[in-house]
Amino acid sequence: MNFFDIHEKVILVTGAFGLIGKEISRGFIGQGAKVVLADLNEARMQSLEAELRQEFPEGTFLLHSLDITNDDSIATCLRATVEAFGRIDVLINNAAIDAKFDKENSGQVNQSRFENYPIDLLRKSVEVNLTGTVLMTQHVCRQMLLQGSGNIINVASTYSLVAPNQSLYDFGEGTKNFKPIDYIATKSFIPNFTRYIATFYSKDNIRCNAIVPHGIYNDHDEKFLVNFSKMSPLGRMCEREELNGPFTFLASEASSYMTGSVLVVDGGWTAW
Ligand SMILES: NC(=O)c1ccc[n+]([C@@H]2O[C@H](COP(=O)([O-])OP(=O)(O)OC[C@H]3O[C@@H](n4cnc5c(N)ncnc54)[C@H](O)[C@@H]3O)[C@@H](O)[C@H]2O)c1
Repeated sequence: MNFFDIHEKVILVTGAFGLIGKEISRGFIGQGAKVVLADLNEARMQSLEAELRQEFPEGTFLLHSLDITNDDSIATCLRATVEAFGRIDVLINNAAIDAKFDKENSGQVNQSRFENYPIDLLRKSVEVNLTGTVLMTQHVCRQMLLQGSGNIINVASTYSLVAPNQSLYDFGEGTKNFKPIDYIATKSFIPNFTRYIATFYSKDNIRCNAIVPHGIYNDHDEKFLVNFSKMSPLGRMCEREELNGPFTFLASEASSYMTGSVLVVDGGWTAW
C-alpha cells in the first residue's frame, strides 16, 4: 500500500514558475497528479511549458497566468482549472515576494538597515504575501466547500518562526546586506493563518497545514554558502529535490490526521 499516493489528485500551485513551485510541480506530475502551474510571470510560461511537454504526457498539467492579488485573475484561473480537471484537491499557496541572495537575483537585495527601510516595499509584500494569500485561499475554499473536501498547504519560511541572523548576509566587503522586515512580517503571518483556516474548516473536510522550507540552493555566491554552512546544523543548503517528499506527504492521505500543523524542513536551522 502506498500511503503517499497522489495519483489523479488535482493540485494547484501558485508561484509555480519560480524555484520551489517549478520543482514541486514537476514532482507532483511525475507521481501522476494533475497539476495546474499558475504564476504572475507570464514571460516564463512558454519555455516552461515546452520543457514540461518534453517530460510529461498531454493532459497531465496546465499552465495558467495568475495574480493572487486580483479577484478576476484568480476567478479565471480557477475556472480554467475546474474546466480542465473537474475540481481542486490541493492548493499550494507558494507565490510570494522574497528578496533573493543568489547570483541571478542579488541585484534586488535591499541594503537599507531597518530604520531606513522603504515602507512602500513593506506595503507591496503585504499586498502579495498576506492579502494575496488570503484572497486566493478565499476563492479556493468556496470551490472546496462545493466539492465537500480539500487540502491547503501554505508555504512558510524559517522567518515565520525565528528572526534572521543578519550576519548570514554580511559578505565582508564593506556594503552590508540585510534580510528586510517585509519578508519577516508577511511570513510570520503564515503559521497562524494556517491554524485559522484549519480550525475554521475542520468540520468541512478541508485540511490546512504549512511547510517551512529553508535555504534552497540556487547558484549562490561562495561567500553566502560559507556563512550558511557554518550556521546550519546539517552544514549545507537544501537541494530543491529534497522538498518533494515533505510536500507529497502533506498533499497525500499519509498526513490525513494533520491539520493546523507547521512542518519544518530546515536542516535544523531553528533547532539551536
Ligand atoms: N527559496 C528559498 O530558499 C525559500 C525558503 C523558505 C521559504 N520560501 C518560500 O517559498 C515560496 C517560493 O519561493 P521561491 O524561492 O520559489 O521564490 P521565486 O521568487 O523563485 O518564486 C515565486 C514566484 O511567485 C510568483 N509571484 C509573485 N507575485 C505573484 C502574484 N501576485 N501572483 C502570482 N504569482 C506571483 C513569481 O512570479 C515567482 O515565479 C515563497 O513563499 C517563499 O517565501 C523560499
